[in-house]
Amino acid sequence: MSCVVVTGTQWGDEGKGKIVDYLAQQANVVVRFQGGSNAGHTVVVGGEAYKLRLMPSGILYKGSLCVVGNGVAFDPMIMLEEMDALKKRGIDLSGIRISNRAHVVLPYHRIMDGVGDEARGKEKIGTTKRGIGPCYMDRDNRIGIRVCDLMDKDELAKRLKENMARKNKELQALYGHEPLDYDAVLAEYLGYAERLRPYVCDTIALLNEEIKAGSKILFEGAQATMLDIDYGTYPYVTASHPISGGVGVGAGVAPNRIDKVVGIVKAYCTRVGEGPFPTEQLNAIGEKIRTDGHEFGVVTGRPRRTGWLDACVVRYAGLLSGIDYMAVTRLDILDDFDEIKMCVAYKYKGEILNEIPASLKVLAKVEPVYETFAGWKTSIRKVRSYDDLPEKAKQYLTRMAEVTGIALGIVSVGPNRDETIVLAKDIF
Ligand code: GDP
Ligand code: IMO
Ligand code: MG
Repeated sequence: MSCVVVTGTQWGDEGKGKIVDYLAQQANVVVRFQGGSNAGHTVVVGGEAYKLRLMPSGILYKGSLCVVGNGVAFDPMIMLEEMDALKKRGIDLSGIRISNRAHVVLPYHRIMDGVGDEARGKEKIGTTKRGIGPCYMDRDNRIGIRVCDLMDKDELAKRLKENMARKNKELQALYGHEPLDYDAVLAEYLGYAERLRPYVCDTIALLNEEIKAGSKILFEGAQATMLDIDYGTYPYVTASHPISGGVGVGAGVAPNRIDKVVGIVKAYCTRVGEGPFPTEQLNAIGEKIRTDGHEFGVVTGRPRRTGWLDACVVRYAGLLSGIDYMAVTRLDILDDFDEIKMCVAYKYKGEILNEIPASLKVLAKVEPVYETFAGWKTSIRKVRSYDDLPEKAKQYLTRMAEVTGIALGIVSVGPNRDETIVLAKDIF
């Protein structure tokens, strides 16, 4: 197998970074295809944590190519910050490749993300304020600035002038925000361009050549199914396509090149930001999940909302992304629970729903139908084979696979690379 997609099945922060890093041992190339620095992917190696935002989670392997695809909202400032921090820790950066077609995040995108979301008042999305939505808006409005423009001084100067005239008007008129200084932004971005130039290339050609050559390629999803702009809890979503189909448009790799899709499933559920969350536990259980799981955002530090596993959401993700295997993460966080619940269906007005409702009014009112499992009440951090897991943990996992209709491929019992149990031997 040569192309494997890793995708989040819930509302993000499932542990995609950990599983991508694990699978990257076997891969030659790791590719980000959507989202941007709104992602926060944590990789832990030998007890050392690396918090990655734009950088593909294959960067810790010397010799791997780490590709930022054309579908990424690319923030050069954040990329350089990450590169500097990794270099200080002795990480080799020579494998980085940045698409010349990726759209560039500019300072007005970040500002507009912040003031624009606040201006929605009670309807605010709770974005990460990284400028991702406004950057994609400019792309879709056909006024975006791409990496190839950033590399061309005259083109950048011209496009930035036009855009900033417009953006400064919007900032002042809509939000009473002071205008940004064109010369300062131009100088800042010309500086980024010089530092990033050696890494920029046509990643579409590169990836398709790698596929032809039989390389093993991992596509690293950011965010997750329920944050997908079309399939998630719209409008409380991100502005890209985290589902596996996002690879086609975000990396320039055709759908029939994809061999396997791995869906990352956190053993319970979390969400950052606003929007419906049927299995949310606004009680002592939710508090215990947050405390035991240290559930605070990597990017914003916000406490994450917490609740029981919603198997309806995972089943939906399975359909949308064609998930072959689940990688269940953070099972160890449930080690100390007397009882564990799993939502296996939604009820609305007394009837079982067969689909995830499109209407948020309906989704906000569905009643989760729970099954209850006895907790295993013992640490599983040292377990390295499926057979050695406590019977009660296996019962929970077996039921998860049954209800979602997705085979169990990996079980993760801790953040470190070696705290991983692999059942599926044919992922790559
Ligand atoms: P991502 O955005 O999907 O990559 O996930 P995050 O990195 O935002 O959040 C997942 C957190 O869980 C990180 O701190 C990981 O180091 C950690 N993690 C991943 N897998 C496991 C696991 O199986 N057990 C525990 N205890 N932590 C894990
Ligand atoms: P990873 O890759 C969790 C959420 C934000 C907000 C909504 C829109 O680490 O799983 P945006 O800034 O994207 O316009 O915000 O999406 N969000 C995430 N939640 N994990 C993420 O990434 C997220 N990226 C965005 O909190 O609700
Ligand atoms: Mg995260």
